[in-house]
Amino acid sequence: MSYEVLTFLSLASIGLSGILILAGLLFIKTGRRELHKKAMLSASFLALLFLIFYGIKAFLYPPKPYEGPFKGLYLFVLISHSILAAVNFPLAVITVFLGVTNRLEKHKKIAPFTAVVWIYVAVTGWIIYVFMTFLNRHGA
Ligand code: HEM
Repeated sequence: MSYEVLTFLSLASIGLSGILILAGLLFIKTGRRELHKKAMLSASFLALLFLIFYGIKAFLYPPKPYEGPFKGLYLFVLISHSILAAVNFPLAVITVFLGVTNRLEKHKKIAPFTAVVWIYVAVTGWIIYVFMTFLNRHGA
């Protein structure tokens, strides 16, 4: 698979995953539990797809360092994104597990953190792409 196709697939899957988290939040706030469940499970599936596409891409085309003018800002975004992406994995597993096993008191406590971290990771994933492609001296 080409670099461009893998970039598109990984950005599309993580972006759509973030949008589905937002939709899932809207659904639960308006009392639509079944839709909430479907949106959140679809968001989780897309996040797993993202991991696969990202893994293949990093293997076939090892990432190059950023060489643009906003290095400090870029590093802040990259490091916070990477740490929170790692944190998001167990958070997501626990949140989904508590949801599907109907442990709703605990689910409601942890889920807002999961949602915020998830959306941050999705948005900063796109921002990193913008840095590498448009704010870089040599292009991606
Ligand atoms: C990453 C996945 C998920 C996130 C981020 C998430 C997020 C949330 C949030 C923030 C709330 C609280 C809403 C409020 O207090 O106003 C909530 C409630 C709820 N969630 Fe999830 N959720 C996820 C997955 C699931 C799954 C897979 C199910 C499966 C059934 C589920 C079932 C529910 C139910 C039934 C409630 C309502 C609890 C109540 O009001 O008593 N959630 N969720």
